[in-house]
Amino acid sequence: MKITLQHVDHIYQEGGVSETAALRDVDLTIDDGELVAVIGHGGSGKSTLALLMAGLYQPSSGTVELTGSKDPEHPFRSVGLVFQYPEQQLFGESVFEEVAFGARNQGTAEDYLPVKVREALEQVGLDPDVMWYRSPFSLSGGQKRRVCIAGVLVMDPQLIILDEPTAGLDEGGRKWIAQLVRRLNEEGRTVVWITHNMAEAAEVARRVIVLKGGRVLLDGPPQQVFSEEETLMSAHLTPPPAARLVRELQRRGWDIEASAVTVEGAAEEILSHLASGKEGGHA
Ligand SMILES: Nc1ncnc2c1ncn2[C@@H]1O[C@H](COP(=O)(O)OP(=O)(O)O)[C@@H](O)[C@H]1O
Ligand SMILES: [Mg+2]
Repeated sequence: MKITLQHVDHIYQEGGVSETAALRDVDLTIDDGELVAVIGHGGSGKSTLALLMAGLYQPSSGTVELTGSKDPEHPFRSVGLVFQYPEQQLFGESVFEEVAFGARNQGTAEDYLPVKVREALEQVGLDPDVMWYRSPFSLSGGQKRRVCIAGVLVMDPQLIILDEPTAGLDEGGRKWIAQLVRRLNEEGRTVVWITHNMAEAAEVARRVIVLKGGRVLLDGPPQQVFSEEETLMSAHLTPPPAARLVRELQRRGWDIEASAVTVEGAAEEILSHLASGKEGGHA
């Protein structure tokens, strides 16, 4: 499913004393099947963008349009949003109720709900038998996230938006999320992954959108976006360590391409440079 934003402004408390323009003149098209990372400093408008894409907010001006929804009458029902804070999403008395909610809303028959919930919990690596009756509020931060994701996956969204799903998770949790994001995309879903972690964005996404002050500052493949070091710095963002390493070697006189953004990519560049025997020169 494709999403198109045209001239989107979003203003909170319009006309009030605390009026805030969270998004300004945003033009974006995300095509069916894309895997996009959205990055930006706190307050740059990422969550507002997510809420607009999910149809939960209406833009103050401009349009948000979905094409290719399997439910053309209600296209936003094909969008799933995993909220930034699990507390924004969780409300159920039990994990079962929590995850069943979305499926029930979609009209899933009551006796079929347990099957759907079980499937969704398995997709996020939670044991249904252990989780079923537990209160979502009694779970660890990582488990809460997984329940939130299951609550969205149970609706089988064509476009899924995850708003900083790795925040507060340890290394293992972050790796798991990165794998999940990849898998969801491989299953044919369009994925918008909001993150503040440049290395994660570089490794997983094929396109990176950078927001600054509610505007799109950069938009392109990770190699291109992360080479714009100064522009990123102006948005209080630092390119991923691997990209910085390669650029630093280049600055010090190595004749290599500064396009690597991942650790693997940087290793490739360095090894092929060493193999070419060009490392002798000191700048
Ligand atoms: N409900 C709200 N009411 C008023 N201002 C808001 C609200 N939500 C967000 N904002 C403001 O809008 C701007 C963008 O916020 P947000 O979309 O949450 O950014 P991000 O997710 O990148 O941190 C910020 O200045 C924030 O303070
Ligand atoms: Mg946010």
